[in-house]
Amino acid sequence: MRRPGRTVYDAALRRARLAAYPPGQFVGQESFMTRTEILAMAREASVGPGVSVLDLCCGVAGPGRLVTAELGCAYRGVDRSVSAIEVARARARGLDCRFEVAEVPPVPDTVVDVVLLLETMLAFDDKEPLLRGIADALAPGGRFAFTVEEGLPLTDAEEQAMPCSDTVWPVRLPDLLARLGDVGLDLRWVRDLTRSHRRVADGLVAALEAERSAIAADLGHAAVDDLLTAHRLWSAWMGSGRIHKLAVVTEKIAEG
Ligand SMILES: C[S@@+](CC[C@H](N)C(=O)[O-])C[C@H]1O[C@@H](n2cnc3c(N)ncnc32)[C@H](O)[C@@H]1O
Repeated sequence: MRRPGRTVYDAALRRARLAAYPPGQFVGQESFMTRTEILAMAREASVGPGVSVLDLCCGVAGPGRLVTAELGCAYRGVDRSVSAIEVARARARGLDCRFEVAEVPPVPDTVVDVVLLLETMLAFDDKEPLLRGIADALAPGGRFAFTVEEGLPLTDAEEQAMPCSDTVWPVRLPDLLARLGDVGLDLRWVRDLTRSHRRVADGLVAALEAERSAIAADLGHAAVDDLLTAHRLWSAWMGSGRIHKLAVVTEKIAEG
């Protein structure tokens, strides 16, 4: 069966998402990040007026629009989903935002001050080509800000349990730091968001359960079941310490 496009998906989940986040914290993100966390991370990456930002895997660009509107920057969002980019473009009218549909890697051939990768590091099994492309796209002293699911790879049983487990590739912190070092990215700032993201995951479970029939009417029962299964697992994994959610800002080492 063909999956509904992002417009349908976004509309179907809107009420549940609004209910799931703490008041004022839902800004159109497709993730566990809150408004406060998105802005804190962008500020740590020194996003501000005149700063060029490349947001990889931007989705419908809730975070991208927030950062552009609140901090001022020249923003370019990239996502492989045609329908996500359509939604992003329509919502970003009047802001200094450009969008394009592309699969990464390769990272667009450009030079920018900041690269963002929010809630999508997980989807890349081999993170090396992505990180190398990001480092190449950064000006010396440029910042790469991202979130990551820290932990061991999934076991066979976990793979069986998690829907779409072919897009779930946690990484151990020492491995990640080694990969970042290999491409010339130095650690600048880390924050552990595990507790906050578990609360959001629990909020989403409760809201999805409450809105179950309405969402199933738009997306189908199988899609709601998968969403519930995935969010329950994320909550359990973050609650047990199996997975830590980290926000990280790195800086490209200036050559010289
Ligand atoms: C979990 S959503 C996060 C969206 C956004 N960053 C946010 O925080 O709200 C992941 C997004 O990554 C996109 N994506 C996943 N793999 C991709 C790839 N290899 N190239 C481009 N986009 C990708 C998906 O289409 C989806 O919009």
